[in-house]
Amino acid sequence: MTMSLAVGIDLGTTNSVVAVATPTGVEFALGPQGERVHPSVVSFPPGGGVVVGLDAKVRRAAEPETTIYSAKRLIGQNIQSPLVQLALTGLPFQVEEGPNQQPIIALHDRRLTVPEVSGHVLAHLKRCAERQLGQRVTQAVITVPANFSDGQRQATREAGRLAGLDVLRLLNEPTAAALAYGFGQRKDEVVCVFDFGGGTFDVSLLAIKDEVFEVLATDGDFFLGGDDIDRAVTEFLAAELNRQLAIDPRRDPGLMTRLTLAAEEIKCHLSGAAVAEGTIDGLLHQGRELHLPFRLTRVQLEGLINGFVERTLELTRQALTAARLEPRAVTEIVCVGGSTRIPIVRQRLAELFGREPAIRINPDEVVAQGAAIQAGSLSGALFQGPAMAARDAVPTAALSPLAHGGVPWAGAAAPARPILLDVTPASLRVATAGGYTEQILDRNLPTPIERTKTFTTARDHQTQVVLECCRGESRRFAENEALGRLVLEGLPPRRRGEVKIDVTFRVDGDGILHVHARDADTGIACEAQLQVLGAPTASP
Ligand SMILES: Nc1ncnc2c1ncn2[C@@H]1O[C@H](COP(=O)(O)OP(=O)(O)OP(=O)(O)O)[C@@H](O)[C@H]1O
Ligand SMILES: [Mg+2]
Repeated sequence: MTMSLAVGIDLGTTNSVVAVATPTGVEFALGPQGERVHPSVVSFPPGGGVVVGLDAKVRRAAEPETTIYSAKRLIGQNIQSPLVQLALTGLPFQVEEGPNQQPIIALHDRRLTVPEVSGHVLAHLKRCAERQLGQRVTQAVITVPANFSDGQRQATREAGRLAGLDVLRLLNEPTAAALAYGFGQRKDEVVCVFDFGGGTFDVSLLAIKDEVFEVLATDGDFFLGGDDIDRAVTEFLAAELNRQLAIDPRRDPGLMTRLTLAAEEIKCHLSGAAVAEGTIDGLLHQGRELHLPFRLTRVQLEGLINGFVERTLELTRQALTAARLEPRAVTEIVCVGGSTRIPIVRQRLAELFGREPAIRINPDEVVAQGAAIQAGSLSGALFQGPAMAARDAVPTAALSPLAHGGVPWAGAAAPARPILLDVTPASLRVATAGGYTEQILDRNLPTPIERTKTFTTARDHQTQVVLECCRGESRRFAENEALGRLVLEGLPPRRRGEVKIDVTFRVDGDGILHVHARDADTGIACEAQLQVLGAPTASP
């Protein structure tokens, strides 16, 4: 009988990584071309079939309308939210509104939910792991940004299910990074995990004591990442095209995609050089081939992205305040995500904390590594079972104890089971009269957690109550993010204030919110489930 393994997956906006932890250490699963980092891109070629990863990324320029990227920016989101509308501008593929206000990807011949797209990415990662390990992979821990909302978490779970994975746990990305950083190291530290990726920014402050990883505070913005920087540089290039060649590329998705790809290259180049200059060739516009000479300095780029960098620092300061920590109380800064390679980001971080960020951490792999440790811990494979060397059924390259430069444990065997203590990323509220809200759960509370508050009816003979739920820090409903509504029907018709309704908010270990309400006095069960806007429904 072949054993089935539990893997850890960092399902990123731009890139994904899959890893497995065993008694010897963590190993990363490679793609068909030997890549450790798998682009989160799914392409649907005209002839049928699905292409995922590196092979899909190269199709972006030629097939912009059927090559889907950055799906994580849309997953579990309410398409009507202004931030989603902003993310949609400039996307070369079609996104429409589906049932329950969820975004739907419209191709020529079919429509896909966002979890279906992400499901293809996850299925690809599963296949890569199975091919390399020579074993079936059925279970996974998948990471999500710490401030992912309920709908986004539910949709990510759904993507896992569609890929044929039993999702053991959704783990917050910064917590995963801290786990990889501190696991088995017998640390006694306060670390700041600063995760600036392709689509999202997360910052968490954690106390690590031996194998206990306690989140003290977390903050972030799931619309702040390399994609936004690329957009700023693309705008610069589009303006140059307009100035030099009198062409407005904004209505030409193919041309915009080419500029966006060039913008990302220029941005990455400027992390290592003071100037980027050259000519962008092979641009096509209305059948004409264009060449765009450009010159951008690092200082200019810093000017373009200053607002984004400032925002990451502001959120970091907020997290420090929430954790009641002075910057100098932080003993290590763990940089995660490709956008932390930008020198000004590291420089500003060093200024804030009075110390340089840790350098021995690989910002691309650390989240998957933490997810793999948690997966191995939950499945037990971390402590017993075959080490990598015993996998004699595996062909060629993967045979070495830790193939492809995996990460071995410091000691001879995997250390004790880690304990993760996470927190709620935002306050959860229900609407009250006059456009105000009542807070049920505060932010930065340890999870899992449950809290009940009692409400009464506002009118005589009221038999129905509608509870509008939202998350955010404002007392005004409209300034928060609407989550959905809970409808309680069949209440006994009494005088106002006589019917008492217990509303319970529970956040589980995955960070998923469960809301239910009950008529407390009569004992009549009025259970209801929150309908989360943007959450996946059966079919588009
Ligand atoms: N040298 C570099 N300089 C600047 N940016 C870089 C560099 N290398 C990679 N990036 C950017 O990092 C981003 C990808 O980072 P990463 O792979 O960590 O994101 P992700 O995990 O896919 O996204 P997220 O965590 O937000 O979901 C891209 O926007 C990429 O352009
Ligand atoms: Mg990431």
